[in-house]
Amino acid sequence: MKSEPSGHIPVLLREIINFLVTDTNGIYFDGTLGDGGYTKALLKKLDSHGKVIAVDWDEKSVEYSEKWASPETRRGRLSIHRANFCEIKEVLSIHKISAVNGIVLDVGLSSRQLDTGERGFSHRLDGPLDMRMDNRMTDSVSHIVSKYSEKDLKEIFFKYGEERGSAKLARILIRERQRQTIVTTNDLVTIMKKYWRPKFFVKSASRIFQALRIAVNHELENLEKFLEICWDLLLPGGRIAVVSYHSLEDRIVKNIYRKHQDPCICHRQVPVCQCGKIPDAKIITKKPVRASSEEKIINPRSRSAKLRVAEKIEIIREDS
Ligand SMILES: C[S@@+](CC[C@H](N)C(=O)[O-])C[C@H]1O[C@@H](n2cnc3c(N)ncnc32)[C@H](O)[C@@H]1O
Repeated sequence: MKSEPSGHIPVLLREIINFLVTDTNGIYFDGTLGDGGYTKALLKKLDSHGKVIAVDWDEKSVEYSEKWASPETRRGRLSIHRANFCEIKEVLSIHKISAVNGIVLDVGLSSRQLDTGERGFSHRLDGPLDMRMDNRMTDSVSHIVSKYSEKDLKEIFFKYGEERGSAKLARILIRERQRQTIVTTNDLVTIMKKYWRPKFFVKSASRIFQALRIAVNHELENLEKFLEICWDLLLPGGRIAVVSYHSLEDRIVKNIYRKHQDPCICHRQVPVCQCGKIPDAKIITKKPVRASSEEKIINPRSRSAKLRVAEKIEIIREDS
């Protein structure tokens, strides 16, 4: 597996592989291929009958991976698709696979995406205000910034960026966009720099760019949708591992795992369960796994990472 150098250092890689691989001849789904860090490590760990199906909706990630992956795809051990991870069922059905042994997601941005100015993800690099991970989507961030109402902009900045200056920036953008078009990262950065004290600018700009990226890519909606679909596609004993970088994402993962482990919706005072909902998961990581201090030094992206793992359990009905 020879590959051109990737600037992306996979986060919590050892932990992911240790938690995820329960059968070295099993089938695994990597929903966020990126530069292939997890997929490569999975292939290394798996035996000859093991297989990885990997997707990414970013054309560039798929193009990059297809280069290093060709010997593995020829051997039938790896299959790469350009798709949203929410299309997992459709992708697996291409291979006539109805369930897999493990599923992994590493949501967020790859270093390749962040460091490419033309993608518009970084406030440090000039480029179009785009931030679509999948360039087949119609609206980019410049659409949000030039068309959304003050209330909606404020909500995006506050909810997805937890930025204290959300109301201020929303107000400023509404005013500024009547005077000029806001179509590049520099346009947005220049506006922010006029109103932010230099001391606070970098942190605020990072939060605002993160908020716009989450909004334009519908990241939380996709994660939630995926986690609802994927349980039916896991074999009993199979595991799902999700690495997230934002408290809102982590909350979605935590709550959906809990709902599968403890689905009963009966009132606490009802002595015997009436709803009949049966658990189909066991949470493996009681608390999220965080990067070690060594990893945080080597790879600053890992500082905010949280890994949560759950296992699918066989549903045993009392009447069966
Ligand atoms: C943090 S990177 C993954 C890095 C990868 N684990 C590695 O080690 O190289 C996240 C990747 O997920 C992709 N992605 C994000 N949301 C997606 C979605 N809904 N469907 C498919 N790919 C998605 C992004 O395009 C990006 O390439």
